Amino acid sequence: MTNDNAWDYLQPEPFYVKSVVPIRQISAQERRRRLETAKYNLFNLASDDVFIDLLTDSGTGAMSHNQWAALMRGDEAYAGSLSFRRLRNSIEEIFGFEHVLPTHQGRSAELVLMTHFLKPGDHVPNNIHFDTTAAHVQYQQAIDVNLVHDRIYDLQSDHPFKGNMDTAKLESYLREHGDKIPLVCMTLTCNSGGGQPASLENVRRVGEICRQFEKPFLIDSARVIENAWFIQQREQGFSNWSIGAILREIMAQADGMWMSAKKDGLVNMGGFIAVRSHELYEQLRMYEILFDGFSTYGGMSGRDMDALAQGLQECCSPDYLAYRTGQVAHLSVLLREAGISVTWPPGGHAVYVDAAQFCPHLPREQFPAQALSLALYLEGGVRSVEIGSVLRGRDAVTKQDRFEGLDLVRLAIPHRTYSYTQLEFVANTLIRMKADHESIRGVRFVKETPVLRHFTSEFELI
Ligand code: F0G
Repeated sequence: MTNDNAWDYLQPEPFYVKSVVPIRQISAQERRRRLETAKYNLFNLASDDVFIDLLTDSGTGAMSHNQWAALMRGDEAYAGSLSFRRLRNSIEEIFGFEHVLPTHQGRSAELVLMTHFLKPGDHVPNNIHFDTTAAHVQYQQAIDVNLVHDRIYDLQSDHPFKGNMDTAKLESYLREHGDKIPLVCMTLTCNSGGGQPASLENVRRVGEICRQFEKPFLIDSARVIENAWFIQQREQGFSNWSIGAILREIMAQADGMWMSAKKDGLVNMGGFIAVRSHELYEQLRMYEILFDGFSTYGGMSGRDMDALAQGLQECCSPDYLAYRTGQVAHLSVLLREAGISVTWPPGGHAVYVDAAQFCPHLPREQFPAQALSLALYLEGGVRSVEIGSVLRGRDAVTKQDRFEGLDLVRLAIPHRTYSYTQLEFVANTLIRMKADHESIRGVRFVKETPVLRHFTSEFELI
């Protein structure tokens, strides 16, 4: 698992290509021109400005022929759609929850859940809240609390489950603020912590603590199937368990889950909430109908629910998961072998490059991760995303930039989309850049937007 030979991770694609989309690299001069027009913000580029797009794995992957076939079965009935029945059955079979509410994506599930559970002044613990979850907690004037174990911030620690909740911190937090905590969440895998998994032992312990303190426990399951794979591969005692058995055991600890299906659902759009209690389902359903649509479609078309029912099943295939995590590991090891610091051990969906280590000549005030992501586009037409102080924004009270924490460049790998050769091209580009890293220029804001500034701000090179 912490092997350093990139070839050991080579897991051939368990599919062949049936339909292709041509892509092309525009010239370096043209990339420079387009980046200038985009005001040095990669979110402003069009997809045909980009050669290899590693901005996100969310909704950017390829569907299988069986999913495309499933689309044709779509039942678009407003109420009681048969596609909904197939989706519900697929979710119950895999995760064990009987009551399902489709939503148009992950954050609409968060809107429904947080509206139901929270009131102003509440606190919501998580290992690390994803940005949209944190934003939805704050939108209810509540406080998002991250209680992940500190080792996640140590890039070089070899711990196999760096997404674990610090259960001692969770217990003492519950003891201190219990009356203000209406629910506890866990994000599996932990996207904002490098796609790192949590162990089943840890999830079981969190479940126990939540039962002891009588708090509902919900799992943000965007990449929980990848998490189950890591449990099977890395945790003692689970190598003989099927992915399905591990998933049901994870969910047996919780009262419910929500999922952005754009990740492990292997679809381009969609999401859902699934819960055990009929009473909770009835309560959530009111908000679902208000925000997203009637409870048998919730913002998804029937055909999309059929594609998702199929995609969830495909994601549980060990061949698929070996290939999926193999791609991430292969790219991680190629970079690490070349002396580039990346999150370690390899996580589930992305490689995160440590920009401070890559660009030691850039002070944090010049946003090294933003600078490196722009340089990677200029050098190779590769789009990545800054996960650092541009994204973290300013402190709500002091208004100072939040420079504490890591400055990372995330290379997220879309599902079943790019070949190993394309990823090796990305590795090769970064390795070439490392040799000449002093030519990478820092950035400064030209226009800084007040909310979620990474999406819409404008920059210039220093
Ligand atoms: N939870 C996690 C762990 C996520 O990674 C995301 C989205 C969401 C919730 C929200 O879901 O986008 O369907 O509304 N992550 C994407 C990313 C955007 O690029 O990592 P959504």
